[in-house]
Amino acid sequence: MIIDQLKQSVACAALNYISPNTIIGIGTGSTIDYFIQSLDRIKHLIRGAVSSSSSTTRYLNRIGIPIFDLNEVGSVVLYVDGADEVNENLQMIKGGGEALTKEKILAAASKQFICIVDESKQVQVLGKFPLPIEIIPMACAYIITELNKLGGESKVRKNVLTDNGNIIIDVYNLNIHDPIAMEKIINALPGVVTVGLFAKRKADILLVGTTNGVKKIINTS
Ligand code: 5RP
Repeated sequence: MIIDQLKQSVACAALNYISPNTIIGIGTGSTIDYFIQSLDRIKHLIRGAVSSSSSTTRYLNRIGIPIFDLNEVGSVVLYVDGADEVNENLQMIKGGGEALTKEKILAAASKQFICIVDESKQVQVLGKFPLPIEIIPMACAYIITELNKLGGESKVRKNVLTDNGNIIIDVYNLNIHDPIAMEKIINALPGVVTVGLFAKRKADILLVGTTNGVKKIINTS
């Protein structure tokens, strides 16, 4: 219950970063659902949104926010999304909600990326949350063999097909001390579509919902 209140307050705080008459990128997940709920109140101020998943698209359609294709607009001034884990360098694990590929595209195509989380998502070292990797189904056995060499234990996520028709492998028990290197290594495996490490393109601003209010951390590097 308390976690939901923290998600709600941090989602609401993100509204302050929206400039009038812009098209914003919107992520996926329960924190983002609270963001969309809050956005409903000021939706007349924006032109619309680029969505990161079919579930976000459904919610945006329901409240009448116009949806744009990223190819129509090229980039977005602001991208707002949650995370499964975030470290003090504003690098993240994402993909718990299966939408990592479109989320990563939007993060890359955004001028400013604001990550919104409750305080339970902050970690020193990424990897306690199983690292999601979207892969082409044919490459599954090969990729699991390669991932085992990195340590950790890989499991195919059951009964899941992504919006892109692919499957997800979750890698358990990793200690990711060098997220940029790990992202590069996994990205280079043939058959990997996206690894849910958002390390090279990290968040620009992290908003954290805490029991003492919303904390703001700015990326300085
Ligand atoms: C979806 C994601 C979400 O941002 C992540 O899973 C966090 O979700 P929630 O806000 O429900 O805790 O990466 O692919």
